[in-house]
Amino acid sequence: MHFSSSVSKRIILIYVLAIQLLLINSKLSLNTTNEYLNHTCLVSQGKYKPGSEYDKLFKNIMKMFYKNSIRGYDFYGDPTFTAILQCRGDSYGPKCRDCFVTALAALRRRCPWYKGKIIWYDQCLLSMDSKYSVGQIDYDNNFCMSNAKKVEGDQIAFLKAWNNLIHDLTELATTGDNYTLYSVGEKRYEGDTLYGMVQCTQDLTPKACRECVLYNKFHFQDCVHDIRGARAVGRSCTFRLEFYPFIAKQVRNI
Ligand SMILES: *[C@@H]1O[C@H](CO)[C@@H](O)[C@H](O)[C@H]1NC(C)=O
Ligand SMILES: *[C@@H]1O[C@H](CO)[C@@H](O)[C@H](O)[C@H]1NC(C)=O
Ligand SMILES: *[C@@H]1O[C@H](CO)[C@@H](O)[C@H](O)[C@H]1NC(C)=O
Repeated sequence: MHFSSSVSKRIILIYVLAIQLLLINSKLSLNTTNEYLNHTCLVSQGKYKPGSEYDKLFKNIMKMFYKNSIRGYDFYGDPTFTAILQCRGDSYGPKCRDCFVTALAALRRRCPWYKGKIIWYDQCLLSMDSKYSVGQIDYDNNFCMSNAKKVEGDQIAFLKAWNNLIHDLTELATTGDNYTLYSVGEKRYEGDTLYGMVQCTQDLTPKACRECVLYNKFHFQDCVHDIRGARAVGRSCTFRLEFYPFIAKQVRNI
């Protein structure tokens, strides 16, 4: 992540906190928010020139993504270029297309001419890479966002509850004939309801998806474990837990 100064970091933090407050206070926002979360320019992969072969390929693939964004995802990979679009499981059709268009424009602005770049929104992720990386777990480009408020009471019980929820959701997302690499669900926790979501990009196998979630669960345990809501977001997989419903159609009682 390459924010230009700590001031912009703080502004983004305030922005994120404000959005979370809005989410908590208003159910309306379920339909309308698609907040920007983060981006990264993969500087080490270098830049490409306007009109180059890379540029032409990039533009063609983005045209294809625009078309296919209606179904909620797309990916492309060859030895010199990989691109992945993944919308959240409940964002397909025009919602996914809107998120794709927003993400592409923002990447152009934030990482101009960089071959490698990733941007995350609440409802989609768009990533480019100057090598073949389809089906591979990205262990490097991950981050965690948490609400400031800590859980009161039994930390161990809470840790167990969210561990179970993420585990069950991961199973749900990766097993069966019609696995979707996406699942949402909820569990009761001490008179409260804990809502969760797990998703992997569609280029992963179920096994890789499980591995990715497991890795992030471990990697970000300090960020998640005693917090009233958090999400681990990565290029290959993401999970989120809140004490309020953040997806319109939450599955009941898993
Ligand atoms: C979200 O949108 C759907 C239809 O687009 C509508 O039926 C529903 O009431 C909306 N929910 C909220 C919380 O605004
Ligand atoms: C944004 O993502 C990068 C990883 O790509 C991470 O290092 C950074 O901490 C993230 N920034 C925020 C504000 O979460
Ligand atoms: C999986 O999908 C197939 C074909 O679409 C369908 O016939 C079958 O009933 C589905 N299985 C489950 C468990 O939903």
